[in-house]
Amino acid sequence: MKADVLLGLQWGDEGKGKIVDVLTPAYDIIARFQGGPNAGHTLEFNGIKHVLHTIPSGIFHPTAINIVGNGVVIDPVIFKKEIDALIKMGVDVKSKLRIASRAHLILPTHRILDAASEAHKGSEKIGSTLKGIGPTYMDKTGRNGLRVGEISNPKFREKYEQLVSKHKEILAAYNYEYNLAELEPAFFEGIALLKTLETVDCEQFINEALKNKKTILAEGAQGSLLDIDFGSYPFVTSSSTICAGACTGLGLAPGRIGNVIGIFKAYCTRVGSGPFPTELNDQTGEQIRRTGKEFGSTTGRPRRTGWLDLPALKFAVMINGVTELIMMKADVLSEFDTIKVCTHYLHKGKKIDYLPYDISSEFVTPVYEELAGWKKDLTGLHAIEDMPPELCSYVEYIEKATGIPIRIVSVGPDRKQTLIRHQVTA
Ligand code: GDP
Ligand code: IMO
Ligand code: MG
Repeated sequence: MKADVLLGLQWGDEGKGKIVDVLTPAYDIIARFQGGPNAGHTLEFNGIKHVLHTIPSGIFHPTAINIVGNGVVIDPVIFKKEIDALIKMGVDVKSKLRIASRAHLILPTHRILDAASEAHKGSEKIGSTLKGIGPTYMDKTGRNGLRVGEISNPKFREKYEQLVSKHKEILAAYNYEYNLAELEPAFFEGIALLKTLETVDCEQFINEALKNKKTILAEGAQGSLLDIDFGSYPFVTSSSTICAGACTGLGLAPGRIGNVIGIFKAYCTRVGSGPFPTELNDQTGEQIRRTGKEFGSTTGRPRRTGWLDLPALKFAVMINGVTELIMMKADVLSEFDTIKVCTHYLHKGKKIDYLPYDISSEFVTPVYEELAGWKKDLTGLHAIEDMPPELCSYVEYIEKATGIPIRIVSVGPDRKQTLIRHQVTA
């Protein structure tokens, strides 16, 4: 068996949570492979709207096992809140959740360091979610981090204090004021809860499952344009958000990857700083934000909005080896007479259709093609046959440009507002 991977192809918030939830009945295991509580994955069904941060989006399914992989960074405080909320909703979280012992822990001082670093950068700030993601991955690669497997070590507290004292030295250099004592009780309550959950060696768990013919869907967080290597650096997150991240984040060999399901919005959004070639700082952008309710699921910040960027989408398809596409939020564009799509960039006097090293506005100018809008409310559609012809043309246009079939078109936030065009291809 091979594991399928679902990941975002833009700057995050493409609708991964919704689609993982929709696809979960076809899988035995849902495995989050990177990121942490910077993610906010929204699910809507039966009138319930729920946002998950660290817990995989298959948790509402009655039998699927949900594993938090070794590539994820866990904030015990947020994790506890997520679990408490799910238990309150009657979800049997504990029997369906597994945590990789190699996953790294976000300490309260990581969060403080994130805030101190952003404050220090001033107008150059990344626009981080301030969840401590960057500092935690820095400690991981710097070989200072604390992993979930350590929490049962009698020396855990000692190791914690050692790392905290390193952090205090850095914070002193930033000259940043903070109150650690206020944050620590919740952290240790979270650690106590983590101790009651089932930890596993993720790589063994995943590979045994594949050997036993279990089906696995790896769930990404953020999006390819926020990837630490291939995103618009330094305005990126600190993990590998691309398909390769599923290998390192779960212990999955490259040859064990099956379908790579790439998800994108019918337009673009970005939250936080950094270049955004097709950004619309006008009424149209405001209309997309309002209709699409484009406000961060984790931070509530307004998301920046813009037209679909094909060079960026094709780049993400290439980097990830995407085998099928899912297009989200088609309903949000229903009001427009025409819809623009960026087909190329003007770059150093030339027309190019790939992503150059720097995509800031001084280096690239988007070139658009204007397509007919469908001017029809899509939110009540249930069958692909009911799609208006202009929407079919839009979908086919993107398929032609990317060379990849669009398997699903999403027309609303609810599970049911999902139009399936093709079944699984492999
Ligand atoms: P994720 O981080 O990729 O899981 O995406 P988010 O949950 O952060 O953001 C996607 C937002 O769009 C959420 O509020 C979803 O409920 C909503 N959403 C998902 N699919 C659709 C869709 O097809 N149409 C509309 N209007 N909203 C959608
Ligand atoms: P999901 O999984 C959208 C953005 C932040 C910031 C940059 C770095 O819900 O799609 P970080 O806190 O990671 O250091 O922030 O990345 N960012 C996201 N944007 N969706 C996300 O996750 C994001 N996670 C981080 O806004 O620009
Ligand atoms: Mg999100």
